[in-house]
Amino acid sequence: MELNAVLRKRRMIRAFKPKSVEKEKIWRIIENANRSPSAGHLEPQEFIVVTHPTVKRRLAEAALNQMFIAEAPVVIVVCADPRRNVWRYRERGRIFYCTIDGAFASMLILLTAVDEGLGAAFIGAFDDKKVAEALDLPEEVRPIGIIPIGYSDEPPERLGRRPLKEKVHFNQWGNQASTITDLKEKLVKRSTQDPVI
Ligand SMILES: Cc1cc2nc3c(=O)[nH]c(=O)nc-3n(C[C@H](O)[C@H](O)[C@H](O)COP(=O)(O)O)c2cc1C
Repeated sequence: MELNAVLRKRRMIRAFKPKSVEKEKIWRIIENANRSPSAGHLEPQEFIVVTHPTVKRRLAEAALNQMFIAEAPVVIVVCADPRRNVWRYRERGRIFYCTIDGAFASMLILLTAVDEGLGAAFIGAFDDKKVAEALDLPEEVRPIGIIPIGYSDEPPERLGRRPLKEKVHFNQWGNQASTITDLKEKLVKRSTQDPVI
């Protein structure tokens, strides 16, 4: 599927059909996740593929009882192992880079799931300790996101976004366009004439 179509189709899916997911699809999802960038190319990302009903239930409970997680045929838990980057980046590596590296890989999972005709959700509300116990994680390894994946059983309803003119600032905070037309002119017209906005 073309990238723009994938981006526009993607939304968090929280209800799944009982149908199982083909192993080739999970393989392609993991393979794409592995294309994620990482700070210093130190690759702290680890992927735990969960299909066992008991482990899925424990993950759902660890995620503040978001029980739809247990109903997904497959759950991928993206983790980060700071032992791979602390030697170079210390605290910034352990906290910030690990989180970003894990989040980038998670986004690739969400997008590839759409491309494979599947639905997925990123779950960030969970008790780290309970997730670590459910997955038998080494003490240093941090869970970053729980991603249930399956065939969507939800109507294709999409959430809107805050207007872009509120979110885009030129050169410094607060220097914004007054209307969406003004924003388009600033971004499209000026950038074609002058690459520095
Ligand atoms: C860091 C983060 C944590 C999230 N945690 C949860 C969660 O615990 N449970 C959940 O149902 N959705 C969770 N979401 C999904 C958001 O609620 C969702 O992305 C947002 O409502 C926009 O919906 P959309 O992605 O379908 O456009 C999380 C998203 C992010 C980025």
